[in-house]
Amino acid sequence: MMTTRFVLLIGGSGFIGRHLISQLAKTGYRVVVPTRRFKHAQDLSVISAVDAVIEADVHDDATLDRLMIGMDAVINLVGVLHSRPARKGQAYGEDFKRAHVDLPRRIVAACAKHGVPRYLHMSAMGAAEQAPSMYLRSKFAGEREAFSQHRVATTAFRPSVVFGPEDQFLNMFAAMQKFLPVIPLAGAEAKFQPVYVGDVARAFVCALQQNQTIGNLYELGGPRIYTLRELVQLAGAYAGHPRPVIGLPDLLARLQAWFFERLPGTPLISRDNLDSMQVDSVASADMWSELGLSPTELEAIAPYYLAPQGARTTS
Ligand SMILES: NC(=O)c1ccc[n+]([C@@H]2O[C@H](COP(=O)([O-])OP(=O)(O)OC[C@H]3O[C@@H](n4cnc5c(N)ncnc54)[C@H](OP(=O)(O)O)[C@@H]3O)[C@@H](O)[C@H]2O)c1
Repeated sequence: MMTTRFVLLIGGSGFIGRHLISQLAKTGYRVVVPTRRFKHAQDLSVISAVDAVIEADVHDDATLDRLMIGMDAVINLVGVLHSRPARKGQAYGEDFKRAHVDLPRRIVAACAKHGVPRYLHMSAMGAAEQAPSMYLRSKFAGEREAFSQHRVATTAFRPSVVFGPEDQFLNMFAAMQKFLPVIPLAGAEAKFQPVYVGDVARAFVCALQQNQTIGNLYELGGPRIYTLRELVQLAGAYAGHPRPVIGLPDLLARLQAWFFERLPGTPLISRDNLDSMQVDSVASADMWSELGLSPTELEAIAPYYLAPQGARTTS
């Protein structure tokens, strides 16, 4: 078994990264987390397993070189949901290219250069060369880059939508139902297989510990498949504000997304997000047993963190 102790966790300050840090800590790993904004990740430095939180531009090769020193493994969780449009003849826009394709290529090149033997890569369910969205096409191209260095032992993961405390998915739909009398929903019949963030984190740690995962790509879905409408209804019910959900016809959904794209800040939903929902975010096979894990039911976790403040209990 490969002994991995020092892990460079790129994208470790986000939703999944924070859960992964606690799993890595429990298993005895030491973690370094680069971030674009130290302020927004500095709370991580109080965790004893976190050796350093470093403000760094991982898109700069010299910076990446420095971060590699002394590492046994690199985990890359960097992902973006929105991008400028693709130029003519390109499969995805510049922001997707930079974060999902160029970055993993540069990371594995740096791993090879500095003798870092192990790389874990985060992709997304539905990634495919001919996928309907720029997001999924760029995630697929990123997987290719992740496996492109023969001196680096790579494992990659494709989760469906990930839920857990602090998620931006069920929490957002729960919050919307607090304020809106009805929920006009784009992609209401799209299918998802929500996976618990703790299980995703455990899958990554298992991969670090098990050499038989090298070279593999794992689709991570939860125990059940739901339509988006069902998930929104569950979120409303758990939060104590169930509202009627009205599925938007495609044309209206695209108009709504077009409108959101024009508002200042990060759009709630973009036309590319809608394109991603044209394919079911559902695993082609159950891959948990290969990792020695089994996924947690949404019903066992979500009611506890979505419940109104006063009614919350611990699971
Ligand atoms: N959440 C889901 O439901 C889900 C489902 C499938 C796949 N995934 C994938 O899982 C990964 C993590 O997801 P998440 O929900 O934890 O995302 P998140 O909360 O947005 O965290 C992403 C992290 O990546 C870093 N980052 C974002 N854009 C970057 C950029 N352009 N350059 C460098 N660093 C950047 C951010 O770090 P700083 O801001 O500190 O620099 C942030 O901590 C992503 O690759 C995502 O595509 C997520």
